[in-house]
Amino acid sequence: MKYVVTAGPTREHIDPVRFLSNPSTGKMGFAVARAAAELGRDVVLVAGPVALRTPKGVRRIDVTSAREMLAVVERELDGDDVFIATAAVADWRPAECAAKKLKKREMDGTLKLVRNPDILKSVRCRHKIGFAAETNDVMVEAARKCREKGLDMIVANDVTERGAGFGADTNRVAFLRKDGSVERLPMMSKLAVARRIVRFAEGLA
Ligand code: PMT
Repeated sequence: MKYVVTAGPTREHIDPVRFLSNPSTGKMGFAVARAAAELGRDVVLVAGPVALRTPKGVRRIDVTSAREMLAVVERELDGDDVFIATAAVADWRPAECAAKKLKKREMDGTLKLVRNPDILKSVRCRHKIGFAAETNDVMVEAARKCREKGLDMIVANDVTERGAGFGADTNRVAFLRKDGSVERLPMMSKLAVARRIVRFAEGLA
């Protein structure tokens, strides 16, 4: 059984020096990759732009945009694999990316956006685990995403909570499984959360 894990943000460029993105550091995803590698699993980590060292025993592939991330995931993922999506993928990208830095006079204050592909929803494999980064209605939104993306489990985190979500070394999450069961975990290190996620994945038939 192989694990494919996405981590970090994506960058959606407006021109070579400007982009849309978010504050993901990759810590959560790198911890998941490390936890799976600790069990001796074959792990591919598809990482957006982050400043982290690759965990031991993990094969890392760096990408920038959501479309690049999708292409690598599709290439790496086989039907029998486990896919764990921790990446904060930009849902939208600029309709056009200028080849050269735009001059201020060339910008009129509006930016046309188009939808990015939903990586987690579109890929087909044996087991899929996602995350839900929420600021409100955390459990309702997480349950909806779990259902709509066809997941075995979604890991919900309230990214407004201190010590949780983006950038922190800790996280406080709830596991929502497809059988409807819910498990609320206390605040713990991201590595401890990751080990719990991998333990769940290992238990899937
Ligand atoms: O990287 P850190 O600084 O450690 O921060 C960790 C984290 C906050 C990024 C992480 O805990 C987390 O919540 N990751 C999910 C971020 C997110 O984009 O959530 P979402 O609710 O918007 O997306 C739902 C799921 O669909 C996620 O598994 C996401 O990876 C996936 N998705 C979303 C959009 C898209 N176009 N493609 C996707 O695959």
